[in-house]
Amino acid sequence: MSRIAYVDGQYVPHRLAAVHVEDRGFQFSDGVYEVIAVRGGRLLDEILHLRRLDRSRSELGIAAPLREAALKIVMREVIRRNRVMDGILYLQVTRGSAPREHAFPKAATPTLVVTARRGRPPDPRLARDGVAVITIPDIRWQRCDIKGVGLLPNVLGKQRAREAGAFEAWQVDAGGRVTEGTSTNAWIVSLDGAVITRAPDHAILNGVTRLALVDIIRREGYELVERPFTVVEAKAAREAFLTSTTADLLPVIAIDGARVADGKPGPLSRKLRAWYFDHVRAA
Ligand code: PDD
Repeated sequence: MSRIAYVDGQYVPHRLAAVHVEDRGFQFSDGVYEVIAVRGGRLLDEILHLRRLDRSRSELGIAAPLREAALKIVMREVIRRNRVMDGILYLQVTRGSAPREHAFPKAATPTLVVTARRGRPPDPRLARDGVAVITIPDIRWQRCDIKGVGLLPNVLGKQRAREAGAFEAWQVDAGGRVTEGTSTNAWIVSLDGAVITRAPDHAILNGVTRLALVDIIRREGYELVERPFTVVEAKAAREAFLTSTTADLLPVIAIDGARVADGKPGPLSRKLRAWYFDHVRAA
């Protein structure tokens, strides 16, 4: 089966799908994106993703490429044409194509690209055994709450993790506090059982998985503290884990080569993961 992509109003074969060389996404990373999980043919937490897309776009003054109802139709059509039951949908909006000039072009139509691909959730062994993370300095800009396509620091960080044999790199601010992973949010469970994750300030992306987990933690009656935690605190924590659309929830069992607690996935991480899957099934 050949894959189909949506590019600026047209459904085209994936291998021929292209934007102009002067697209500002290509030239300046002047664009925003979303990655949405497709589970059982449905878009998981679609509304939260669309809300975040609108917010990212508005913060950068990029116009809406389509009205929401039309965008939803396009997303469903891309899923249908690619016969995706389980996988991801990728959506990117850029400021459009115009002669290269830093300031916003006077007249540019936003570019919209939507693709979808099949894919299984992460290898169950990662959840069973847990994953390792390394820590690296956070060298990103000061608006990481905007889901922009300029991901070079994230790319370099993930590569460093891969080369270190780790799953993820936790980025650390100048004060020694963890901001987030390169494509995941970061969490710990303190020795007294509180779940700690950074508040959704400008230093992190407010993950849709994070938001779902926040609701679950509160509903189940656990203490949730939204504040930064240091690397030292994380290494001394009872449990640690990470979340994202593509990783779901994965226990973190080592940080910079040092074991977290006994080096096994923690009981609360396992419970939260199970409740998260209840949420996925119910959505
Ligand atoms: N990444 N932090 C960063 C920097 C991210 O890029 C992501 C998502 C998250 C988690 O957000 P969510 O729970 O909404 O997926 C946190 C996506 C999956 C990606 O770029 O592939």
